[in-house]
Amino acid sequence: MSADLSVYKKDFPIFSRSVRGGNPLIYLDSGATSQKPEVVIQAEADFYRTKNAAVHRGAHLLAEEASDAYESARENVARFIGAASSEVIFTKSATESLNFLATSFGNPDSGIAVKPGDEIVVTEMEHHANLSPWQQLAKRTGAKLTWLSITAGGRLDLSNIDQVINSKTKIVAITHQSNVFGTVVPIDLIVKAARNVGALVVLDACQSVPHFAVNVKQLGVDFLAFSGHKVLGPTGIGVLWGKSELLEKLEPAIFGGSMVDSVTMDGATWAQTPRKFEAGVPNMAQAVGLSAAVDYLTKIGMPNLAQHEHKLTEELLAGFKEMKEVTVVGPLDMKDRGGVVSFTVDGVHPHDVGQVLDQYGIAVRTGHHCAWPLMKKLNLVGTTRASFHLYNSSEDVSSLLKAVEKVTQYFKVSK
Ligand SMILES: Cc1ncc(COP(=O)(O)O)c(C=O)c1O
Repeated sequence: MSADLSVYKKDFPIFSRSVRGGNPLIYLDSGATSQKPEVVIQAEADFYRTKNAAVHRGAHLLAEEASDAYESARENVARFIGAASSEVIFTKSATESLNFLATSFGNPDSGIAVKPGDEIVVTEMEHHANLSPWQQLAKRTGAKLTWLSITAGGRLDLSNIDQVINSKTKIVAITHQSNVFGTVVPIDLIVKAARNVGALVVLDACQSVPHFAVNVKQLGVDFLAFSGHKVLGPTGIGVLWGKSELLEKLEPAIFGGSMVDSVTMDGATWAQTPRKFEAGVPNMAQAVGLSAAVDYLTKIGMPNLAQHEHKLTEELLAGFKEMKEVTVVGPLDMKDRGGVVSFTVDGVHPHDVGQVLDQYGIAVRTGHHCAWPLMKKLNLVGTTRASFHLYNSSEDVSSLLKAVEKVTQYFKVSK
């Protein structure tokens, strides 16, 4: 039996407030951003209170302490995903991480440059953050963007994988867990297909790193991106991980202070990785906050968290199964599936569903979830999405089910 991690809800100050109508907050929107435990808020504030200085720049004590805190945050975050710290680049977000990569692959001076005729493979279930940068890269370089489709059950359609990932494929950029369906993609099969043709694999781990143990070595991918704010960490901090031999080959995507080895009026040479990718004063306090978040999660145990969310998802799917007006969009079984449940209510626009739920203090996400092509494919204007984290409980699931029942009564829908 899984441990009920919702006992840790007390660690998150936001739950001490009430929301509409004096209701307690039932937060089911962690897929968009997670709430923050006090230790994370404290770590970020303490950086400003006691160490604030520009890292890697001053000779004074504060600069030294700030640099130590920043670099130990990098080591800690690297450990969390099974990486070497020299391979972890701090960015502002996963979106920025993926854009950095796409920009760098588009630079003809990069040791790995995308050229006309190359193919870049994505999937129909990508978040725009892992689609638009590759569309732009294809446009800039004359490469072709191709994609794997989805099955009716919300899984990746791998029936034509050997045609889609072929000898022209240079990059496969793929989500680890769909932010719409909750589907966990079989990365081993993707890596195998990519290796067969010498392509690189870029993993969008935005919805996986916050919810289950992710080890970059075990996954065998080449690059990985995630955002701090979904991992109980602060906003304004993201991670780009890459194999060091590949990062060495890439040109930086932005240029300026702190990332150079030497500069003349005619040009510059770059510092070692990861510094060469971190131009300007970085998001230091946020890196320290993210480090506190991964410490917190490590203490709880990622396998415990995964089990907890698994149980809640199972309960929600079982509840929805009994409601004839509700259609779950995505896998109905628990195999290779995370704690994201998208659904529609017959005859009711998702925004209306969200507004009624809000009256009961329930925060969910509604709309296209930054996955417009997927919504078009499904012929939907959007869905309502409930997504879990450790502070959610079975009571939250019951409250959601009861409130969705109210939605169906309110709008008097039937199948
Ligand atoms: C699967 C996925 N990829 C990328 C992103 C983009 O993350 P961010 O907006 O933090 O850069 C998100 C955010 O919702 C996501 O769910």
